[in-house]
Amino acid sequence: MKDEILNLLKQSNGYLSGEYLSNLFGVSRAAVWKSIKQLEKEGYVIFSKSKVGYQLVDIPDRLYPCELKPYLFSSILGNEIYYFDELDSTNSYAKNLPDNFIKEGIVVLTEYQSKGRGRFNRHWVSPKYKGLYFSFILKPNISFDNIGHLTILFALAVCKTLEDHTKKTFEIKWPNDILYQGKKVCGILTEVNGEIDAIRHVIVGVGINVNSDIGDFDEDIRHKATSLKIITESKVDRILLLSEIINNADEYYASYSEDVDFMTILSEYKSKLSILNKEIHISIGSNLIKGTAIDIAHNGALKIKLRDGNMREFISGEVSIIQ
Ligand code: BTN
Repeated sequence: MKDEILNLLKQSNGYLSGEYLSNLFGVSRAAVWKSIKQLEKEGYVIFSKSKVGYQLVDIPDRLYPCELKPYLFSSILGNEIYYFDELDSTNSYAKNLPDNFIKEGIVVLTEYQSKGRGRFNRHWVSPKYKGLYFSFILKPNISFDNIGHLTILFALAVCKTLEDHTKKTFEIKWPNDILYQGKKVCGILTEVNGEIDAIRHVIVGVGINVNSDIGDFDEDIRHKATSLKIITESKVDRILLLSEIINNADEYYASYSEDVDFMTILSEYKSKLSILNKEIHISIGSNLIKGTAIDIAHNGALKIKLRDGNMREFISGEVSIIQ
């Protein structure tokens, strides 16, 4: 009933009387009042006038599924949304869901992560109500070798959405960091549950610095991190942005599931990459290897021409351009 009252308040230009709502739902006026109080607790600003009724005057900056769903037209992703005010990590939550809860396309979404995880066991700073921290649960029919395709596909979908939304140009740092003028705005952590020969499900976790201020970043990363608010100099509507990401990612993912040939997505991805034909070093554990980034293999691996002229492929690693 609470969500229905909210929808009616949204559609109404003026006040809706408590009597009208109680008749409509066949409940007491006290029950209507309780729902109004609950909505206020969630951050909705509602004016109440005695003998007149209730009027909605402001919607909170929260990622509530009931605010998000009207903007979604996806076919697979976001069919179910698990929303939390706080979580340790959306990837960890998705990973620990019991098998009978796992469904293709679930989105796990939170306003704050106490233990947000990045690649190489790094911490992902997740200030409350300022970013997008979410994970897609996928059950793709692909081999373990092609997991890299998902990384590419989601990085591309997010990158395109950020460009459409902000009208700025972003680049992808292999494999899936999204940067603006060299500073990181989004990171993606892809994790696989299952065995090499039997993938149970894949989790694609996306973290985007949306409305963070520079002081929200730890001091040691301030020089290499940024947010959409800093880039555009204005606050970004997180609901709209998230819905656009889910819709776009859904289109890429659905076409990928039908398309055996990955070439179109791959060439689009390569056009957004910042490192091709540049001198780079790639660190793998404590090893630092230098060379020229030449190409991306069909499985998403980075092809590097080493200084001795030999070619090598890397499936993961931390790349930086040698200035
Ligand atoms: C990276 O750049 O190292 C990847 C960062 C991925 C962060 C996101 S936030 C949502 C999801 N849950 C996590 O714990 N991590 C990913």
